[in-house]
Amino acid sequence: MQTLILTDSEADLMVAAELLRKGELVVFPTETVYGLGANGLSEAAVAGIFLAKGRPADNPLILHIANIHELQHIAAPLSENARKLVEVFWPGPLTLVLKCLEGVPTNVTAGLSTVAVRMPSLDVARTLIDLAGMPIAAPSANISGKPSPTCARDVLEDMDGKVAAVINLDRIDLGLESTVLDCTSTPFKLLRPGAVTVAQLEAVVGKIDIDASIDTGRETTTPKSPGMKYKHYAPQAEMYVLENMTMECMAEFLKNKAADAQVGLLISCELKKLLDLGGAYVKAWSTQPELAKNLYTSLREFDRAGVQKIYAQGVPAVGLGLAIMNRMRKSASFNIIQSNS
Ligand code: TXA
Ligand code: MG
Repeated sequence: MQTLILTDSEADLMVAAELLRKGELVVFPTETVYGLGANGLSEAAVAGIFLAKGRPADNPLILHIANIHELQHIAAPLSENARKLVEVFWPGPLTLVLKCLEGVPTNVTAGLSTVAVRMPSLDVARTLIDLAGMPIAAPSANISGKPSPTCARDVLEDMDGKVAAVINLDRIDLGLESTVLDCTSTPFKLLRPGAVTVAQLEAVVGKIDIDASIDTGRETTTPKSPGMKYKHYAPQAEMYVLENMTMECMAEFLKNKAADAQVGLLISCELKKLLDLGGAYVKAWSTQPELAKNLYTSLREFDRAGVQKIYAQGVPAVGLGLAIMNRMRKSASFNIIQSNS
């Protein structure tokens, strides 16, 4: 299949919307990561997503909507607290897991009685959904197990020839997938951390639960969010995360590694200054939002550069840091190095 490369012009978005209506796959940008979109009300179109990604069938998808009115066709009426969240955080990087209505294809929900819904804040994404005139099912547009794509180059690495079109717009803001919150349990339960933080959610609805797998990385026996049990976000290189170490301690640990051309370092500018850099491939960040935005694309860049080992500096797992560490630890298959290990 020849993959069309489209822009965000209205004419191109109309082409993309028409492809979606015909049941084709279209990769489109959102404020979090690129999504691999299909008509979310067509079982056959959604089946194409699983094929293109090599995604396990028991991992359900998020339905993306452009307008709050579309919710009434896919999910049961919102509880008061869920409504408050929608008012504060939509459009934006918050996915709500809600009780599902009949008519949503079972391959979207993986047969669960719930459906995940989000309204993206990137205007291009909402315009596309609006023009298509239906909810768009979209996982991140990567081959299953690889880091999510945050630029067109990374999308094409995985999806060229497998999808009808890619909307090329390198204006991805956040770089990590949306926060996923289960609104069917009491209190609500965080299933995946993202840019909408626990503190922000609790300011609106009070105390929320945090799924055990987020804190410990250990898989619960029956994960509430099926996607959490699979290998995720992983580069080809062996990856390690440095946690709970002082700058000096990290500098000492990385001293020899910084000279090695087979090593990739994902570190703060502050730490970089303490290192005597030799051949290592370095990606440095100065703020957590910058780290979040560039995490996945840096991992792919290390792989392209042929790096064999990646050492990533961790950050405190609070606020946005909870989402960063959740992804970083999974990328590294929980290879965590601490000062006393
Ligand atoms: O930012 C994002 O959310 C991106 C962009 C494209 O919108 N999408 C994304 O989709 O990250 P995906 O498929 O890569 O991740 C969806 C997550 C998975 O962990 C899945 O298991 C969970 O949401 N999920 C979907 N439906 C669910 C449900 N009914 N109950 C619990 N978890 C669900
Ligand atoms: Mg994904």
